[in-house]
Amino acid sequence: MKPISHIAKTVPASGIRKFFDIVSQMDDVISLGVGEPDFVTPWRIREACIYSLEKGYTNYTSNYGLLELRKHISTYLNERWGLHYNPENQILVTVGVSEGLDLAMRAILNPGEEVLIPEPSYVSYKPCVLFAGGVPVPLGTTPESGFKVTPEQIAAAVTPRTKALLISYPSNPTGATISREELQAIVDVAREHDLFIISDEIYDRLTYEGHHTAVPELNGAYERTILLNGFSKAYAMTGWRIAYAASTPDVIEAMMKIHQYTMLCAPIMSQMAAIEAIKNCGRECDEMAEEYNRRRRLIVAGLNNIGLDCTIPGGAFYAFPSIKKTGLTSEEFSERLLFEEKVAVVPGNAFGECGEGYIRCSYATGIDQIKIALERMERFVENLGVEGRLKAAGRE
Ligand SMILES: Cc1ncc(COP(=O)(O)O)c(C=O)c1O
Repeated sequence: MKPISHIAKTVPASGIRKFFDIVSQMDDVISLGVGEPDFVTPWRIREACIYSLEKGYTNYTSNYGLLELRKHISTYLNERWGLHYNPENQILVTVGVSEGLDLAMRAILNPGEEVLIPEPSYVSYKPCVLFAGGVPVPLGTTPESGFKVTPEQIAAAVTPRTKALLISYPSNPTGATISREELQAIVDVAREHDLFIISDEIYDRLTYEGHHTAVPELNGAYERTILLNGFSKAYAMTGWRIAYAASTPDVIEAMMKIHQYTMLCAPIMSQMAAIEAIKNCGRECDEMAEEYNRRRRLIVAGLNNIGLDCTIPGGAFYAFPSIKKTGLTSEEFSERLLFEEKVAVVPGNAFGECGEGYIRCSYATGIDQIKIALERMERFVENLGVEGRLKAAGRE
């Protein structure tokens, strides 16, 4: 047998999945692992889908997605950020932001072209670039910079082959958010070097401190940005696989062609549900965001109290504490915590090399569960015998 594709063979499977296969075999585990809302999709969204099925909407849609949905997305982007995207040719409905990322890469990259990716980053970014024949170039960030990439870092990494910058604020896994001024400085560098900006804004509605800035709002950004967003997180619709991309007509047409031949269209029932979500479910989103915010404060205070230093994340639903003081690697810490105390977290190195020394704790889990998980983590850290060291480091 001839070998399978070199790229498919060498790209590693997601470190997150490996962990959760183990978790699914165990009882009584509290999972701070999954990046998925613990809420069920609001009822009126589910009802809209049921109603559409009752009416017999079971067909393909336009490759771009239902025009009615694209119009609502266009209105939403306009009302929220003053953006103007023509629903006819500047918006593409995709099967999750996951598909949007893949389409964006394949639409803009020629073989060997580089994409700058601030890390720690969402697990699919590098593979998407590789599968499109590109070269991912990681830019490591630290808590000292608030896990934010700087314009200087970007400028220093640019080569003649650099094609794009992929950013995502609020961030998975760090929860980092960024100010309008900082984002403008990043856009200015991208403009100077004529880079595309792919902006994954899937956590925009889960911003707890200040206001989210959409990248295409900024000076010089609109014509070079591919904005990706979706319904999975804000509307608790992960299983519906529904999202969208907005950009210039040229880019959207290129993405649409790939989508047309590989996906054809997003499922019509999910598109029908998304119309209801975007039209009528802002209040439900805000209520879920308020609940995440309560949990955020609880978990960050709890982690710091245990001695696992954690900066307060401004958005998304992840805390990213340091476990460096324990002397364990991220994987050792996560594996032992799972087997000894039955709490699942994700080792930070799953999100890039600079994630080593950290763990990702998702707070898309009920408050009672978070409290028990914190108790278990405290016991775990104490049993490691590092209590003395943590105290010596100034934590009584
Ligand atoms: C930053 C980020 N982008 C994209 C995705 C994928 O989203 P979707 O469900 O829309 O494919 C996730 C999911 O965890 C994510 O965290």
